[in-house]
Amino acid sequence: NVLILDFGSQYTQLIARRVRELNIYCEIHPYNKVPDQLNKYHAVILSGSPFSVRADNAPHPDLTNIRGKKPMLAVCYGAQYLAHFSGGEVAPSNTREYGRANLSFVKEDDLFKGISTGSQVWMSHSDTIKALPTHGELLASTHDVENAAYKINNEQTYALQFHPEVYHSTDGKQLLENFLVHIAGIKQDWTPQSFVEETVSDLKSKLGNDKVVLGLSGGVDSSVAAMLLHKAIGENLYCIFVNNGLLRKNEFTEVLKQYEGMGLNVKGVDASARFLGALKGLDDPEQKRKAIGRVFIEVFDDEAHAIQDVKWLAQGTIYPDVIESVSATGGPSATIKSHHNVGGLPDFMKLKIVEPLKLLFKDEVRRVGASMGMDKNLLGRHPFPGPGLAIRILGDLTEEKVRILQDVDAIFISNLKSWGLYDQVWQAGAILLPVNSVGVMGDERTYEKCVALRAVESTDGMTADWVNLPYEFLQKTSNEIINKVKGVNRVVYDISSKPPATIEWE
Ligand code: XMP
Repeated sequence: NVLILDFGSQYTQLIARRVRELNIYCEIHPYNKVPDQLNKYHAVILSGSPFSVRADNAPHPDLTNIRGKKPMLAVCYGAQYLAHFSGGEVAPSNTREYGRANLSFVKEDDLFKGISTGSQVWMSHSDTIKALPTHGELLASTHDVENAAYKINNEQTYALQFHPEVYHSTDGKQLLENFLVHIAGIKQDWTPQSFVEETVSDLKSKLGNDKVVLGLSGGVDSSVAAMLLHKAIGENLYCIFVNNGLLRKNEFTEVLKQYEGMGLNVKGVDASARFLGALKGLDDPEQKRKAIGRVFIEVFDDEAHAIQDVKWLAQGTIYPDVIESVSATGGPSATIKSHHNVGGLPDFMKLKIVEPLKLLFKDEVRRVGASMGMDKNLLGRHPFPGPGLAIRILGDLTEEKVRILQDVDAIFISNLKSWGLYDQVWQAGAILLPVNSVGVMGDERTYEKCVALRAVESTDGMTADWVNLPYEFLQKTSNEIINKVKGVNRVVYDISSKPPATIEWE
């Protein structure tokens, strides 16, 4: 187990991902909330930070129980912190120290085993280490940065000015492996299989014979969470899959069948009419979202009530939703949203919460699902927003509009699959515009709807770019849509990035 102390760097989560790719478990904690129980950590990594160590409000971690007592790797800010407060010197740099650089000197040391001069590293800092701390020994330099890596003699303390966690540091993973495996002696035994075994056994002892209710969405996270719970408590897991009438074409029946095939105790609830009724006449995006959220809670609460003595609510929350981040002001800030207002809560929200995936990143959720033999198509599904097609039908909704958009979307998605493009795209879908335009079919003038197609690449949905889909693909897809979907005579392709646009149009 590795402890990563976060000083607010944009790369902190990447450190965790690289460590886990080495099959080593790790946790991120804010630098000013060092866990009390340090025994369970076998090494510590200090992250970078947007702060300068010379600034008055810069983070000052308490390392008394860590430094010299456990193997420690300090990255960027961490490296500067050690130098600045332990007899070295840090000053503003007067050369460019951003982006790629190559190691021009590498000392023979366990940390750099298998890494030689010329290796590309990624720099991102504006201060530079002018003098090493007391007992510091230089391990590597680049052309512009003399003190690019050092260690403290007689301690298992190492420091890097560059970022081993970014892909542009080509030997970064090797370096982390050298530190964690060869220097700290940590075993690489944290695998999807071991995660499943451990989680299932923890869930068994935590839940005993209690009943648990879980809302399935058809997405990856809730499906994998359900599978883990199913392995642990079987029929005591009550899954509810709600059809809000805003899912993709045929999705409700197909996915429900798939869930049943997985052996899940699942109840499909078709509440389409209730949702469409609540949406009637609403054309504001936020009002639409609120109405859908409200009806979902009502439907779910009714269903949860129907299960006698249910004690727990399971959720598919994943690690990025729960990591406490260090805010720009230096203070720790919780990013977790809490639904727990006083009074007026629906009954199911008063249940105890169980979140079996809350330590995993998205790609790890997929690997855990695969190790349990779950269907590749289910695990590889694009993200789909909770309010579904409602926020892809601009303005007010009617059954007819939902039908049109479902048909368009189905052609687009199935073509992406048959062209082998689906897995290269992070998210795709169609948008029904509140626009009619003139067209001609045969000798007839038409005045029909326009749809937009959107396909983006992204890693987390925070930023995204449109995908350069082949013209021939767009041509065939557009033809097929206009020929087959009654009511549509025009197709456009969205070529906006996020920012400044967003992925969804509403
Ligand atoms: P935007 O449109 O903000 O979308 O660029 C980013 C990601 O979030 C999804 N999204 C939603 N998901 N409820 C959800 O569950 C929502 O109201 C919602 N709005 C956007 C969107 O599909 C994309 O993956």
